[in-house]
Amino acid sequence: MKEINISTTFLAYDSITDLSNEIQSLMNQAIEIRKKAYAPYSKFRVGAAILLDNGKVVLGSNQENAAYPSGLCAERVAIFQAGAIYPDAKILKLIITASSDNNPTLAPIPPCGGCRQSIAEYEFKQDTPIEIYFMGESGEVYKSNSIANLLPLSFDKKYL
Ligand code: THU
Repeated sequence: MKEINISTTFLAYDSITDLSNEIQSLMNQAIEIRKKAYAPYSKFRVGAAILLDNGKVVLGSNQENAAYPSGLCAERVAIFQAGAIYPDAKILKLIITASSDNNPTLAPIPPCGGCRQSIAEYEFKQDTPIEIYFMGESGEVYKSNSIANLLPLSFDKKYL
């Protein structure tokens, strides 16, 4: 028997003003699309901005449904849209912001497990890491250099 330890690393920034102009611009686009989320049930709004290596930015917001499981998270709306429109482009950065209509959301909100699995699929596909930044409605921003920090020991195509 042996113990296996997996550690992950994130950077924490006090606010978006500590980020580069490029990331601030992407975060501002994620904030704007977040405000247009279709979230009548949870009142929890999420916005995602993806920067591709062809310079294009693809945005997404969560889309809910009266049949709750039929809705989709912002990250997957954005990443599937990017995969559909630019199937050969690599995803360089994914920027996420979340807010609630009910309470202040000031802590960084990480992507859910299902979204992590979807992001991992694209990172494996392109074989280069995706930088991920996530924030609440404002405040601290966490950065990961790869989905591997958010989803260690992930399942992927090599097991199939
Ligand atoms: N949501 C996202 O869009 N991304 C996540 O990573 C977590 C949750 C959405 C799904 C649902 O519309 C609402 O937030 C509450 O779970």
